Amino acid sequence: MPTGFNQAMSIFRALFLVCVLHSVLVSAQRSPRKASPWQTLSGNEPLVIARGGFSGLLPDSSFDAYNIAMSTSLPNVVLWCDVQLTKDEVGICFPDLKLNNATDIQSVSPNTSRTYLVNGVSMEGWFTVDYDMDFLQKNVLLFRGIDSRTSKFDGNYRVLAVEDVASLEPSGLWLNVQHNSFFTQHKLNMRSYVLSVSKRVIVDYISSPEVGFLRSIAARFNTSKTKLVFRFLGAGDTEPSTNQTYGSLLKNLTFIKTFASGILVPKSYIWPVNVAQYLLPHTSVVLDAHKQGLKVYGSDFANDASFSYNYSYNPISEYLSFVDNGNFSVDGVLSDFPITASAAIGCFAHIDNSSSGQETPKVISHNGASGMFPGCTDLGYSQAITDGANYIDCPVQMTKDGIPVCLSSINLFDGTDVAQSAFGSLSIIVPEIHENPGIFTFNLTWEEIKTLKPVISNPLNDYQLLRNPANKNAGSFVSLADFLTLALSKPLSGVLINIEHAAYLAEKQGLGITDAVIDVLNKSGYKNETTQEVIIQSTNKAVLTAFKAQSGYKRMYMVDEDISFIDDSSIKDIKSFADSVAISKESIFPSEQLFLTGSTKVVPRLKSFNLTVYAYLFRNEFVSQAWDFFADPTVEIISYVQGGEIDGVITDFPATAASYKKTRCLKTLPPYMRPVPPGGLLPFITPQNLPPAEAPNPVLTDADVSEPPLPPVSKKGTNDVNPSSGGPTPSKSGGPTPSNANVGKMAGFFFSSISMFFASLLLIIVI
Ligand SMILES: *[C@@H]1O[C@H](CO)[C@@H](O)[C@H](O)[C@H]1NC(C)=O
Ligand SMILES: *[C@@H]1O[C@H](CO)[C@@H](O)[C@H](O)[C@H]1NC(C)=O
Ligand SMILES: *[C@@H]1O[C@H](CO)[C@@H](O)[C@H](O)[C@H]1NC(C)=O
Ligand SMILES: *[C@@H]1O[C@H](CO)[C@@H](O)[C@H](O)[C@H]1NC(C)=O
Ligand SMILES: *[C@@H]1O[C@H](CO)[C@@H](O)[C@H](O)[C@H]1NC(C)=O
Ligand SMILES: *[C@@H]1O[C@H](CO)[C@@H](O)[C@H](O)[C@H]1NC(C)=O
Ligand SMILES: *[C@@H]1O[C@H](CO)[C@@H](O)[C@H](O)[C@H]1NC(C)=O
Ligand SMILES: *[C@@H]1O[C@H](CO)[C@@H](O)[C@H](O)[C@H]1NC(C)=O
Ligand SMILES: *[C@@H]1O[C@H](CO)[C@@H](O)[C@H](O)[C@H]1NC(C)=O
Ligand SMILES: *[C@@H]1O[C@H](CO)[C@@H](O)[C@H](O)[C@H]1NC(C)=O
Ligand SMILES: *[C@@H]1O[C@H](CO)[C@@H](O)[C@H](O)[C@H]1NC(C)=O
Ligand SMILES: *[C@@H]1O[C@H](CO)[C@@H](O)[C@H](O)[C@H]1NC(C)=O
Repeated sequence: MPTGFNQAMSIFRALFLVCVLHSVLVSAQRSPRKASPWQTLSGNEPLVIARGGFSGLLPDSSFDAYNIAMSTSLPNVVLWCDVQLTKDEVGICFPDLKLNNATDIQSVSPNTSRTYLVNGVSMEGWFTVDYDMDFLQKNVLLFRGIDSRTSKFDGNYRVLAVEDVASLEPSGLWLNVQHNSFFTQHKLNMRSYVLSVSKRVIVDYISSPEVGFLRSIAARFNTSKTKLVFRFLGAGDTEPSTNQTYGSLLKNLTFIKTFASGILVPKSYIWPVNVAQYLLPHTSVVLDAHKQGLKVYGSDFANDASFSYNYSYNPISEYLSFVDNGNFSVDGVLSDFPITASAAIGCFAHIDNSSSGQETPKVISHNGASGMFPGCTDLGYSQAITDGANYIDCPVQMTKDGIPVCLSSINLFDGTDVAQSAFGSLSIIVPEIHENPGIFTFNLTWEEIKTLKPVISNPLNDYQLLRNPANKNAGSFVSLADFLTLALSKPLSGVLINIEHAAYLAEKQGLGITDAVIDVLNKSGYKNETTQEVIIQSTNKAVLTAFKAQSGYKRMYMVDEDISFIDDSSIKDIKSFADSVAISKESIFPSEQLFLTGSTKVVPRLKSFNLTVYAYLFRNEFVSQAWDFFADPTVEIISYVQGGEIDGVITDFPATAASYKKTRCLKTLPPYMRPVPPGGLLPFITPQNLPPAEAPNPVLTDADVSEPPLPPVSKKGTNDVNPSSGGPTPSKSGGPTPSNANVGKMAGFFFSSISMFFASLLLIIVI
């Protein structure tokens, strides 16, 4: 590696760590708690155990993986090291017996693979037992072990010895000995290694799935602080020293208790899932083990692992079901993403449901709780309300018979089963709306649309991340009038009504959407004096101007492109017809190949003109987020709210944002609840992997905002409802609705733009 790069990297690493260290100090004053609410064996808070450090982001068992785990987790985080022995009997931390899993050994030493028996199975690979430590440290670089994780940090780190990890002075060190018998076959003595290393460094836990190994060291650790933990593998796998399956050993916990103080079990031992990935009722494993005086640690927690649908892609919900379910708590969790486990335990467990939490951010649903139910259905709206949305949203579409209804798109291909219905042949191309064919709401009557089945949206289908299949076609569509009736009966701050394609509908379909909306609002309980607010949202200035002229409703201007700056005259223009603005996340923190590159001034500029700023679109699924957010939707929200200073979020998953407002940690901001520094990961990227610099996003100018007034409603077509209109003309409609545009972008992972920050960083690295 060029030394220039190394220097730049260490400078940036130092800066990053200073930031993080600051947060550690800030969080050091955590408020003391009274009687323990924890149902762990000891009554203490469950432990967070960082598997290979922060292995969800950085190469497993690398220096920075361990460092970042320590600086972003609960203060008592335990560092987990999978111990392997080298040919010269040095203990290294590495996730596997075989180096080819997560290093570049295959290219470093191409002809040195071997075939050995591992637990009776023949395996080919590059085994640690064939290399001396000196060779490994000088020649081999760490890579990610799991293909779906980012490759950008590959090749930046070297193999660490157990002592190297201990020298970081973690509050706890956990050694896992997965394959004692393999090393024995190769004349390497894991038992004597473990006994000797524990004299040199403090070892807090030793785990193994081999009964014989743990029993062989039990007496030596009987009086020491080091705790032994028996690791369960698959229930059908055979434990080599007793020749019993792990499933049968689970029924013999009194035996386990003779040599171990705890057990480590895959999370499915506690909360099994069925083949369809739904949670079954919990087992009694934790309660049974606690009865025997054994602690229980759960393994396999990772934000990017496969999730039961019951958690709706929110990893915090999963942790809470293990530590705060009212019946028991595990004593610790083994996680690849210790920041999320820390937040769940430190901030989200035992929160007071009755409190409404802090004000910011305001939470606006996007097509209702469309992450859990088909968009714009009665059930999706009810879920959004239950989950704590402040505003529920109705994207209004006009039916052929002039009824304003809530549907996620003017094109019924999105969100309904129209393609399979009797109306499947009505597909046409309307260039003013989109270049692709569609079956449009204005071509069907409300009675006809009501016969269609709602279909849940699956924007991340390409990644095989489906949304709750059990609810795939659940719920019924609602008219705007039904929607308002539902909303008025609930404790909401208000409703958001989105209006698009107004000019096209007026001119070409004879449908006056603005008048129809005002009319329905007039007939509903939403008079000016109502306690609930009405926000009219549009990407079209003419629509909002029409509403300003005719009503007292609030107005939100939606900027439907990613921007890097917004000039004074356009802000003044927006201010003349709107009170709030919705902008894309990318317009706040631009990114390159899913790495944040910096932050823009768009939010502070809008706020300096007293405009309220909302960001869209928040989703729980980790593939929709920049790597900087650690595959944790809560970290993303924290970063935009605290770091990006937005006032509200527009989200498919209102529950995630609403629960953030109720956490116990908003005053003290522990390190696992702090916004990430935008661009903070760039220094960790290997030089050849740096994303290319691209042209920045456009600047929003007044020319982009200005619109001719809406055209008068024509008499054309079969309808002549609402002949009058709030005034008029074709607009730059064209293109999909903003939310759909966003989906396309997410799916393609094509974010364009780069900040000056990133350009200057490149310069530094080149120097
Ligand atoms: C590995 O083997 C190939 C052919 O089997 C040979 O050409 C090459 O030189 C060998 N490389 C090393 C480093 O020994
Ligand atoms: C590497 O090991 C991890 C577990 O440590 C495993 O999940 C992954 O599939 C392995 N990758 C390969 C390429 O064998
Ligand atoms: C550990 O010590 C206790 C007494 O201090 C004894 O009862 C127990 O059998 C010992 N366990 C082992 C595994 O030696
Ligand atoms: C282990 O158990 C299986 C059947 O339960 C038996 O066939 C096998 O011989 C046993 N092996 C040893 C080493 O005891
Ligand atoms: C528990 O396991 C031990 C060791 O394999 C065995 O000797 C004992 O019989 C088992 N007890 C029960 C109840 O299965
Ligand atoms: C998980 O979700 C399914 C489907 O909604 C439900 O039937 C099941 O009861 C849920 N499981 C738990 C443990 O809540
Ligand atoms: C969980 O605990 C509650 C009481 O707190 C009890 O009513 C319920 O039956 C328990 N559920 C299970 C599955 O043990
Ligand atoms: C608090 O709310 C969550 C989610 O709505 C629920 O799972 C939990 O049982 C509630 N806790 C109490 C004490 O009501
Ligand atoms: C659908 O709308 C298009 C465009 O206005 C029109 O040409 C067509 O006749 C309509 N079809 C039906 C069945 O209403
Ligand atoms: C709405 O109601 C107000 C007063 O009740 C009335 O002045 C206005 O004309 C109504 N607007 C429409 C579009 O019906
Ligand atoms: C609502 O407010 C608007 C503007 O402030 C006003 O023109 C209209 O008359 C009001 N309508 C009612 C029903 O009070
Ligand atoms: C914003 O509002 C504050 C207080 O309401 C006021 O003092 C300030 O002048 C306003 N700024 C602008 C640019 O309107």
